[in-house]
Amino acid sequence: MINFLSAIFPHFGELKRGLCISVAILLTLCSSACSMTSTPEPLFTAPTESPARLALIESDSNLQAGRSSYDLLCAHCHGYGGEGQLEATIENTLSLGLLTVPAHDATGHTWQHPDQVLREAILQGIQNPLDHFPMPAFEGTLNEEEINQVLDYIRLWWTVEQREYQRNLTRHHAEIDAEFGINANE
Ligand code: HEC
Repeated sequence: MINFLSAIFPHFGELKRGLCISVAILLTLCSSACSMTSTPEPLFTAPTESPARLALIESDSNLQAGRSSYDLLCAHCHGYGGEGQLEATIENTLSLGLLTVPAHDATGHTWQHPDQVLREAILQGIQNPLDHFPMPAFEGTLNEEEINQVLDYIRLWWTVEQREYQRNLTRHHAEIDAEFGINANE
């Protein structure tokens, strides 16, 4: 075939080389053009970032401070939208027989604990050898006010019912502490 073509077109050899070079140049141009125009998919999406929620945070310096601490210290484990461990890594954690990082949003169970327990978890961390990414202690990193700000920020992900349930739980816990003379700050 090539011999036949060479017979018809005496310069087929050169033509072929020229064609190869053009294709190579085209491919290089195309791939660099593609990498310039395509926008990479965001790694993290916060499903609860509604305009109303954002407006609420922007209007409240307490929530803004909570968001800063959360995004800086907690989000890489618990998810920027409180959704828990990054989905792409869950399979690996489970295949190792280890536990994933829980969600803080409405799908998680953070709202099922009173503030006193949540504060303790944040201060002392949770040392569970079965956790793939164990919860570190934040005592000395976050003060009491900053922990409350983070909790207020986390609460934004809960439903109205979950917030009310958790408020009652916290009140009940405080009543029991008072009854037994336990100081919540100790
Ligand atoms: C290195 C990963 C990691 C980081 C960073 C981290 N956590 Fe955790 N956190 C965990 C894991 C894992 C658990 C589950 C521990 C268990 O129950 O065994 C957890 C549990 C919790 C719990 C208890 C939730 C429940 O329902 O029992 C709270 C509250 C919490 N984290 C808040 C925070 C806050 C606030 C921050 C940032 C200041 C933070 N975490 C940073 C990994 C992390």
